[in-house]
Amino acid sequence: MAFYSRVSGSVGMITLQNPPVNALSAAVRQGIVDAMHRALSEPEVKSVVICGQNGKFCGGADIGEFGAKMTGPPLVPMVHLIEAASKPVVAAIEGIALGGGLELALSCHYRIAHSKARLGFPEVALGLLPGAGGTQRLPRLIGVPASLDLITTGRQVTAAEARQLGIVDEVTDLNAVDAAVKFAQSVADKSLDARRISTYPCPRPPDLDTIFERAMQQVRRSARGAIAPGTCVQAVHAAVTLPYAKGMERERELFSVLFNSGQARALQYYFFAQRAVSRWSTASGARWDTSKPRPVHKAAVIGLGTMGRGITVSLAQAGFSVVAVETQEKQLSEAKQAVSGMLERGAKRRGVPLAHDKIKYSCSVQAVADVDLVIEAVFEDMALKKTIFQQLSAICKPGALLCTNTSGLDIDELASQTQSPELVVGMHFFAPAHVMQLLEVVYGPRSSPEAVATAMQMGKKMGKVSVAVGNCRGFVGNRMLKLYLEQAFFLLEEGATPEQVDQVLEEFGFPMGVFKVSDLSGLDIGWKVRKADGLVSPAFTGTSARIRGGSRYSPLGDLLCEQGRFGQKTGKGWYQYDKPGGRVAKPDPWLFGFLEDYRAQHGLVARRIDHQEVLERCLYPLINEGFQILQDGIAAGPEDIDVIYVLGYGWPRHRGGPMFYASQVGLDKVVERLEHYQQIHPDVPGLQPCRLLRKLAAISNPAIHKWREVIQKPRSQL
Ligand code: 3HC
Ligand code: NAI
Repeated sequence: MAFYSRVSGSVGMITLQNPPVNALSAAVRQGIVDAMHRALSEPEVKSVVICGQNGKFCGGADIGEFGAKMTGPPLVPMVHLIEAASKPVVAAIEGIALGGGLELALSCHYRIAHSKARLGFPEVALGLLPGAGGTQRLPRLIGVPASLDLITTGRQVTAAEARQLGIVDEVTDLNAVDAAVKFAQSVADKSLDARRISTYPCPRPPDLDTIFERAMQQVRRSARGAIAPGTCVQAVHAAVTLPYAKGMERERELFSVLFNSGQARALQYYFFAQRAVSRWSTASGARWDTSKPRPVHKAAVIGLGTMGRGITVSLAQAGFSVVAVETQEKQLSEAKQAVSGMLERGAKRRGVPLAHDKIKYSCSVQAVADVDLVIEAVFEDMALKKTIFQQLSAICKPGALLCTNTSGLDIDELASQTQSPELVVGMHFFAPAHVMQLLEVVYGPRSSPEAVATAMQMGKKMGKVSVAVGNCRGFVGNRMLKLYLEQAFFLLEEGATPEQVDQVLEEFGFPMGVFKVSDLSGLDIGWKVRKADGLVSPAFTGTSARIRGGSRYSPLGDLLCEQGRFGQKTGKGWYQYDKPGGRVAKPDPWLFGFLEDYRAQHGLVARRIDHQEVLERCLYPLINEGFQILQDGIAAGPEDIDVIYVLGYGWPRHRGGPMFYASQVGLDKVVERLEHYQQIHPDVPGLQPCRLLRKLAAISNPAIHKWREVIQKPRSQL
């Protein structure tokens, strides 16, 4: 709701009250409209201040109401009522003015912001555009180029930048509401003619067409198929080319197209999913709200390779004291340099405080004796990791949490090397660890709820989105990825090319197709793992070359590695590059010949594979594995999987994540297509729909938020 009061005799005060962010729910909108009418009708009131309770002006429209039938007064007439008011209205912006919240502020005649406030139009990230006049008022106030930047990217600005751009009239370090009241008193008698933004002419730069063409090109490049950014450009175009009323009509039309699109539904689902994962639960019933994290002040990182360096940077930037251990002298000195560079770039680009003094380097694992938490990031080698966990268990102080950054090894096996297995968890970061937002927190059967809570909270403090997952080979992300990679290899055997597969996946919205990503990460990483698993051996020849454990296996990746083709680092992989370390992938004629020879050798006949098959073969087995993971209790709900895939694996956010995507395709359709491919390729693993997927499909495709009801039934019934 919105609360009306009178302050200093002549100022009507409207306070938005809808914790936690004072979103503009039906009740809040009704409250504002009622309070405005009251303020305008009271003769003693000469001016009005609008503010938000608890130091937050307003987080915008109430996203939770989007799926339901609209009730209460709409936003557009509400902002028009405020702008048309005969008494000056001042917005007192504390904390946030986002989306509809900023539109509310722009309808006021003056804006006073606290210096710590952030302002912006994040609608584009929800698949929308500012639909309460934001696309029409902002360009009139700050011009087209700055408006295009803010509206198409969703970038939030500080109060200081907002002042510089002309969005706010004053910035204060003191109480913004008090400042706004004083200001309101000072302008009580002033004419409002020049204060109504909708009456301003929109500045028309001479190179208007070029500006819009460039903006369109820019959003096309970065949007990866998302429709909202381009639609935002069109709405801003209407502000310059149409009178205000017509521009508002155009804004409404464009908003409605976006609002009713599948992309908006996916992005809004994802918004809540990313927040839902912090309310974690484990298969054994431990929960976020009953598990208390331990305090962590000092942490250690063991192994300063690719991952250890990024983790060290991330910890130091989050304010933790870090002991960084690397046994190789040469590696240590290289790591010191690399970490310093990363810290300096972070300070320069993102304004993160320089944190060199937070890090102490050592060549000896003994240096970790007094830390509260250790993150091990040495080579992916179980024997080495076991030795390190034995050492850590002997050296670390009682109660210290022992974490591993393994990509997929058994957490419980490592825990069993220690005296306190309940204090062992996985903290699986993604490369580059100081940039990527995802953290899988992996609990073993013996990890204590307190240990899980501590790792989850550490991730949050490091600016990550932490997702709790159970212990199994590859956890959630890499376990599903295995199916996706396998299918891509099989498609090559059957007649596809790396370019064709990548193009389909990039058109779907992945920033890079599966083969380009493999070249970037290094083909040798998977090769090492397969060798350790006994899948690569000269003994596999003739008919056994393409079979492992009774299932079809593609040795294509192994064969490339045997040729020294490790991807970008060697200048050759699934593609060719101009030099080792080169980044621009070009099709390699050598590979086509290689594939032809391979097919001939194994009696495979290349066939034409269409776009739809590439997409379904790559995505549906991955999705099916996601259902298996839910069935096994490794992930608590579909949101966990979707957040992992969007933040860790480049799944296009506007498609919500693999589980949400499946719900939109229709689970019965996914089952039907998997069965279809299984019939044609009975030897291909991963095509048999799992029980949970079949069960959900059979109960007529329930909405994704209902899946948990089925999943939570005893898993034995599935
Ligand atoms: N509507 C409904 N709920 C919202 C909300 C909104 N606009 N903004 C945040 N919330 C909820 C979150 O879901 C979360 O709920 P939970 O505690 O039950 O999980 C709670 O508020 C706190 O949110 P965060 O965990 O994100 O808290 P932070 O302090 O980290 O961030 C924030 C606060 C910056 C406001 C962030 O929540 C945010 O970016 N919110 C979205 C803002 C937005 O996109 N506004 C535009 C809405 S669309 C619109 O206005 C259309 C208009 O143009 C017509
Ligand atoms: P890396 O090979 O780049 O670095 C490993 C480092 O550990 C080397 O610097 C090595 O000298 C050091 N080391 C080895 N034994 C040590 C010991 N006893 N004490 C201290 N340091 C020791 O490996 P990378 O890529 O950083 O991987 C580390 C771990 O992170 C692995 O378990 C890997 O599976 C996992 N991981 C890797 C990802 C990646 O993309 N590279 C992503 C996520 C997890």
